[in-house]
Amino acid sequence: MSKGFVKIDGTDFSSKMLEKAAVKKIYQELFVIDLNTDNYNLNKKYDIICAAGVISPNHAKPETINYFQKYLKMKGLIVFSLNDHAVEDANFMKKIKFFIKNNKLKIIEKKYGDHLTKIQLRSWIYVLQK
Ligand SMILES: C[S@@+](CC[C@H](N)C(=O)[O-])C[C@H]1O[C@@H](n2cnc3c(N)ncnc32)[C@H](O)[C@@H]1O
Repeated sequence: MSKGFVKIDGTDFSSKMLEKAAVKKIYQELFVIDLNTDNYNLNKKYDIICAAGVISPNHAKPETINYFQKYLKMKGLIVFSLNDHAVEDANFMKKIKFFIKNNKLKIIEKKYGDHLTKIQLRSWIYVLQK
């Protein structure tokens, strides 16, 4: 919100995580959703969809990028991180690249930097445009 974003919704498949998010009082709506499925319907479209530390071999699958299309406005942005473990997984990255290409998403920024410094884990941040 301090950066000027005024209408923010949040999602997680863990209701405990959403309880923690609610305490921050910055979210309009919070949805319990498993991003590995597409059997949810939000009835909304967003300017930006952000998935920080969510898309990875142990969490949400690359298909998530596919499912996001339904909720993203034209010219909207998807911002997500891919940590070193994800990038080292050739099969995972093949799918990420496939869904970017198949949905005709434009990579407008890709930046590598610190993520979890205590365990020396770094991440790429991708910004895609519809
Ligand atoms: C490393 S945490 C990142 C949390 C937050 N985005 C942040 O940056 O602090 C990963 C989160 O993704 C959620 N998650 C993992 N797989 C998911 C899935 N398939 N659907 C929805 N949420 C998922 C986990 O419950 C967890 O809260």
